Amino acid sequence: MVGKTRNIDDLVGRMTLAEKLGQLTMTSASYAVTGPVIAGDSTESIRNGNLGNLLNLVGAQHVHEMQRIAVEESRLGIPLLMGFDVIHGHRTIFPVPLAEAATFDPQIWELTAREAARETAADGLALTFAPMLDVSRDLRWGRTVEGPGEDPWLAVEIARAKVRGFQGADLSSPESVAATAKHFCAYGPVTGGRDYASVDISERTLREVHLPGFAAAVRAGVAAIMPAFTELGGIPLTMHKPLLRDYLRGELGFDGVIVSDYNAIRELIYHGVAGDIVDAAVLALKAGVDIDMMAEAYRNGLPVALERGLVTREEIDECVWRVLRLKERLGLFDDPYGRGSRAEPAETIAARRRIAREVAVKSLVLAKNSTGVLPLIEGARRVCVLGPLADAWREMRGPWAAAGYEQPSVTVLAGLRDALTGTSVVHADGVPIAAADVSGIGAAVELVTSDTDVVILCLGEAAEMSGEAASRAHPELPGEQRAFTDAVLERARREHVPVVAVLFCGRPLIVPWLMERADAVLIAWFPGTEAGNAIADVMTGRVSPSGRTPITWPRGLGQVPLFYSQRSSGRPENPQDHFTSKYLDSPSSPLLPFGFGLTYGRFVYANLAVSPDTVTAEGAVEVTVDVANEGARVAEETVFLFIRDRVASVARPTLELKGTAKIVLDPGTTGKVRFTLPAAELRFLGLDFEPVLEPGEIEIRVGPCADPAQLMSARLTLQA
Ligand code: BGC
Repeated sequence: MVGKTRNIDDLVGRMTLAEKLGQLTMTSASYAVTGPVIAGDSTESIRNGNLGNLLNLVGAQHVHEMQRIAVEESRLGIPLLMGFDVIHGHRTIFPVPLAEAATFDPQIWELTAREAARETAADGLALTFAPMLDVSRDLRWGRTVEGPGEDPWLAVEIARAKVRGFQGADLSSPESVAATAKHFCAYGPVTGGRDYASVDISERTLREVHLPGFAAAVRAGVAAIMPAFTELGGIPLTMHKPLLRDYLRGELGFDGVIVSDYNAIRELIYHGVAGDIVDAAVLALKAGVDIDMMAEAYRNGLPVALERGLVTREEIDECVWRVLRLKERLGLFDDPYGRGSRAEPAETIAARRRIAREVAVKSLVLAKNSTGVLPLIEGARRVCVLGPLADAWREMRGPWAAAGYEQPSVTVLAGLRDALTGTSVVHADGVPIAAADVSGIGAAVELVTSDTDVVILCLGEAAEMSGEAASRAHPELPGEQRAFTDAVLERARREHVPVVAVLFCGRPLIVPWLMERADAVLIAWFPGTEAGNAIADVMTGRVSPSGRTPITWPRGLGQVPLFYSQRSSGRPENPQDHFTSKYLDSPSSPLLPFGFGLTYGRFVYANLAVSPDTVTAEGAVEVTVDVANEGARVAEETVFLFIRDRVASVARPTLELKGTAKIVLDPGTTGKVRFTLPAAELRFLGLDFEPVLEPGEIEIRVGPCADPAQLMSARLTLQA
């Protein structure tokens, strides 16, 4: 317990066992319950000093009332730590995390976390259970929506930016909240993409793909970490000593708080590693879990465990000390009512909404625009806005919209009506999102008349079809949307009306047929409060689309898991050779590669250069490329820098992302994009899992996405 402060030592010394266990317990105020409610009367426990932490309470007044009971009525007056899931905004809802990842913009990642922190703190809260850093390569897994997508580089960059944004420069500021990196770790590769199922992956995948985001969060000073619900090779993360104690606390030096997931300590019994609640509590405590969220395992199990000599008082005190230290760092002892003491001015809230619009614009991914139907022609006479997601404001927020303002988010219909003044904008849902009801198809299709300029067809998932416990075995358009789309496409073809499909989804959907047949496809994910305005901004050409998919879109579910950074086979695909790595019934290539996204510009790459072209371990090189906008509009290009290490002691992926850069170019202009690539970035985990830098040739690959055919190549020599 290095660095203990005197006050906390004194306090711990004066606490009864019940008071200590209270500090190690978090119960729900049942505002937004995500599991079974187990808590009894929390208010009384707070007054008795037997409960130190709450989740799911919002509103400064309620929060302060509970805080007042803790501070003014409990024996020791220890302030409460109150937390909430602020996954993509608190009151103002930003695009879902997967959509935000699509911006490939660290400034945006930090900014939205900062704004969300300010809103959360204005509600009196001091802790959030975000960022979620679980890499996902299986689109069946509903929680793909909450995370950074498929790539560890993204997880690392997002981790850094989010921790900075939530915690700010000073954790005790009334505008900062403690961040929780979750769910530690390797939650994404659940078997069959089924939430909460087993995980069994190699140590290499664990270390190369699933740990880097968390290591980056710890290095950025994240205050808390939440272990995943799942088990990894038979060891539930909630009791995973090698990962929690040895790796996280030992190797990474994490000295913050580990808070269990909802009821996860009790679930050790169902995992089959604990016989009863006493066992479960012992296992979690020994692994270093400080706070028991919702299982009542510590309060009920640890007194018995202590009596039986299964845990020591010191082990309990160590956790209590860490919880109190976090409360101190948050400034809660000095000013328990600091957060939430001032309502935010209306201008701050309005400015935040403008940010929500800009971020939503940047998260939209234009997947197809074959006939140049977008941006919409100026002076359109008649636009049909069809589909079950055209006027569905609740869905626009996406899953886990926290305490999102109850006022409607802007729908596509509203956004387009607002933007297209003078145009007749007609609308019909056609079908419900998921129910088997085709009765509305006929009337909706009738709206597509020969004098219609364009059909905007809003399709996709309902918000709650992705997120926690929302895995899908058939991640396609749900309900009768396919039948409806077929009917609309058929009618539009006859009437010579172009169709723009807008897809709302928390994961890639399996829609190769739509990509083939619609004139344009805009992947909107769930854009949040300002959804319709952002979509209108892009459709009208006020802004050129710039989002890039942070996750590969497969052609069919049979290709899953499909991700760009695979290793080469000993028998690489060769259509002429039967015994090579391929499918008999599908191409192996994706529908949309990682990083794919069109814009209204047309970018051409030239003059890739690496300077110097030889580097030693301590050096760095500059990679430059010229990008020209040969289109007719101002547009932003995202440039990707990958490497390939062709010969190494451990087979390396055929592409590894090492950086991205943005450039905004006027039509007809060229700009130079620069990356600095330190040789240290070329390290990988060797045969013994220690980082190594092996001399030899490295291929530098630069371009607009992870499609090898679109990447330029240059060579770099790494010298011993
Ligand atoms: C989720 C966590 C969340 C917690 C508290 C759990 O069900 O897995 O991500 O932070 O609930 O709401």
